[in-house]
Amino acid sequence: MPDRYLRLSNSGAGRFLARRVGLPQPVPLRRWEPGRTALDGPVLRLTAGTSAANPAAVLARTGLTVHTSPKTGAADARYAGVVLDATGVDGLDGLRAVHGALHPAMRALADDARLVVLGSAPDPLDHHQAAAQQGLEGFVRSLGKEAGRARTAQLVRVAPGSADAAESTLRFLLSPRSAFVSGQVITVGAGGAVVPDDWERPLAGLTALVTGAARGIGEAVAETLARDGARVVCLDVPRAAGDLEAVAARLGGSALPLDISADDAGAVIAGALPPDGLDILVHNAGITRDRRLANMTEERWSSVLDVNLGAVLRTTDHLLSAGALRRGTGRIIGTASIAGIAGNTGQTNYATAKAGIIGLVRSLAPRAAAEHGVTVNAVAPGFIETKMTAAVPLFIREAGRRMSSLGQGGQPVDVAETIAWLASPASSAVNGQTVRVCGQSLLGA
Ligand code: NAI
Repeated sequence: MPDRYLRLSNSGAGRFLARRVGLPQPVPLRRWEPGRTALDGPVLRLTAGTSAANPAAVLARTGLTVHTSPKTGAADARYAGVVLDATGVDGLDGLRAVHGALHPAMRALADDARLVVLGSAPDPLDHHQAAAQQGLEGFVRSLGKEAGRARTAQLVRVAPGSADAAESTLRFLLSPRSAFVSGQVITVGAGGAVVPDDWERPLAGLTALVTGAARGIGEAVAETLARDGARVVCLDVPRAAGDLEAVAARLGGSALPLDISADDAGAVIAGALPPDGLDILVHNAGITRDRRLANMTEERWSSVLDVNLGAVLRTTDHLLSAGALRRGTGRIIGTASIAGIAGNTGQTNYATAKAGIIGLVRSLAPRAAAEHGVTVNAVAPGFIETKMTAAVPLFIREAGRRMSSLGQGGQPVDVAETIAWLASPASSAVNGQTVRVCGQSLLGA
């Protein structure tokens, strides 16, 4: 479904009119393109107070041009990225240093600039440090809301001295791949991350299974994982077999027509995998059957709970206990929704299931890592332009698009890029996270 307002408000007359009448003026997002540099300008690396993370070496490895003091006024002084190391901030003086470091840079940002604040986990035994580090959450969320011009802002909490483990996360956030991710707080654990031979094809040699891959977000996920080098197994309901086979053939993968809610789905998947097993399991298939609770039949309730949550729980349990997910490179990625965070009228069934995904991720992640060497994360999409959202009534659809810091809906590829980052062998220190891909939607923020 094309976003006509986005197109109109970026035409000459449309821009003039939108400005005069005070309408939102969303800026088209720059997304990943083959052969184009990650960012169209230098990255500014700043520190507030003392550094507990030392991100200089990681940033140097990204190949981005890094400056360490703002060169305001110069023609080349439009920063395409800013990384503020605030890991050592442990009180009000540190927060003052955050202002001191970023304030001079704010007028020197390029459109699409990526703002990343590095923080530390709030310390339960030091309430001054905890207050300051929690303060960074409010700071970054406000920054995302006011930055404008397709800029994004995130807080990445790193373990002391573990900036290396955050390399894949920094590469993702400092690139067009994260165009529709903003206002997020991401925790990266300690631990040695695997460095891929080729950052453009980090999934080379790995196998990924994507449910709901015949269309929409699932198709984009399969395409993006294949672009990054994975062999893809595309799964969807048997009635979508035609589209599914076309997607699989285009990507050089295989098609698995299967209703994921079938009792034996886990066993059928395990039987269809190559002998060396599965690396990446993406639970994307989902359905909606909206009604207010007063009008919701048991069938509507149960079908949504079963496809969106029950099938995820059953197949995850089966594949983990069968040892089908490979230790080290194993990744389970669920698909939640901002409806599962904010709630939504007419979606008690859907929001219950999607919030359930977030609960599953939180609980299973530490155990799956310890017992199986597998990480468990989720994406929570906001308004994404697919057939699912094309069916939403016009007024609600328009509100869904505009009610976010980026003022537009996302594309399936935005969710896919986020999943590809979580799926990377280099993201082994990212575990138990639910990352919203919502353009910093105002819902449930
Ligand atoms: P879509 O309706 O375009 O595609 C979903 C795919 O899942 C379809 O190909 C469908 O056949 C497949 N599927 C449904 N039930 C299945 C089953 N029992 N077994 C196997 N495959 C099944 O949906 P869209 O928009 O691509 O959404 C993908 C995921 O993202 C869903 O989990 C959805 O809840 C979630 N999501 C989407 C948002 C959006 O704005 N489009 C927002 C938030 C979450």
